[in-house]
Amino acid sequence: MSNNILVTGATGNVGFEVVRLLSERRSSVKAAVRSHSTSRVRLPSGVESVEFDFEQPQTFELAFRGINTLFLVRPPAISQVKKYIYPALTTAQAAGVDRVVFLSLLGAERMAIVPHAKIEAYIKSLGLAYTFLRASFFMQNLSTTHCQDVRDNNEIFVPAGKGKTSFIDVRDIAAVAVKVMTEPGHENRAYSLTGSEALDYYEVAEIFTNILGRKIFYTHPFVFNFALKMYRRGFNAGFIAVMLGIYTTARLGLAAKVTDDVRNLLQRSPISMSEFVRDYRASWMSQSQHQV
Ligand SMILES: NC(=O)c1ccc[n+]([C@@H]2O[C@H](COP(=O)([O-])OP(=O)(O)OC[C@H]3O[C@@H](n4cnc5c(N)ncnc54)[C@H](OP(=O)(O)O)[C@@H]3O)[C@@H](O)[C@H]2O)c1
Repeated sequence: MSNNILVTGATGNVGFEVVRLLSERRSSVKAAVRSHSTSRVRLPSGVESVEFDFEQPQTFELAFRGINTLFLVRPPAISQVKKYIYPALTTAQAAGVDRVVFLSLLGAERMAIVPHAKIEAYIKSLGLAYTFLRASFFMQNLSTTHCQDVRDNNEIFVPAGKGKTSFIDVRDIAAVAVKVMTEPGHENRAYSLTGSEALDYYEVAEIFTNILGRKIFYTHPFVFNFALKMYRRGFNAGFIAVMLGIYTTARLGLAAKVTDDVRNLLQRSPISMSEFVRDYRASWMSQSQHQV
């Protein structure tokens, strides 16, 4: 039977990697993008894309046509999952999708209040075959949301205190996603995806210092100072609240859980923080540092 896969969030951290890996394997993949004309990200050549917007239900039917497997990413800005995500799932099922691989959140099974838990419950209630990828905190948050602080001020500016986090590289999440979507045996399972160790931000700053060759400080700001800086930088209140929730969780020592799921599924060690910083080194170099 054919396995036609639709990847949502295809221009984002995880979805882009999933599309790239599937296209390398020559799997049948379609990338769901909000708009062909305004998409800032270039998809790998030869990958077919289709317009899809959770806030535009008229885009659903065409996007799901001929699809069996859905890789579902909840866009961080969508918190009203009942209004925007449930209808997409219902339409997907009616169009013939019988399998959903959902990018969820580490610990979602214990946090009924988070949108990810509600989406998991809805997928189950539809009777679709599912695989939940409950991921820990992405290493790539340091090369995207927090990049500027490291690049311009040599600091990691997050209010996480001395708490440890079991950071994961999104490339490992994508590799797991591709594996579970392309081989049998992962139906109706949930995996908790973490790196192989939990680090505090002092340890992360030391890794950055050693690899970038300049001193990077962890300045552990107060929550208020962090929120103010993020607000002035243009992040919206909802996103800042989510970040505060995440860093409070870390500060309280609740983000340190390490599992073997990535190692067991990929038969190799998860990507380490040092490997991540080496691979993304250019992100934290200013123009002048690039010229040296
Ligand atoms: N960051 C973490 O540490 C972490 C950890 C565990 C779980 N998660 C979960 O992972 C998910 C985010 O994954 P990510 O970081 O790979 O995503 P991301 O990089 O934030 O990208 C979001 C994607 O969603 C698309 N999108 C935005 N609004 C949309 C809409 N209305 N309809 C359709 N697509 C839309 C974006 O497209 P455009 O390019 O058009 O904007 C983009 O492709 C969230 O649910 C988050 O809670 C994150």
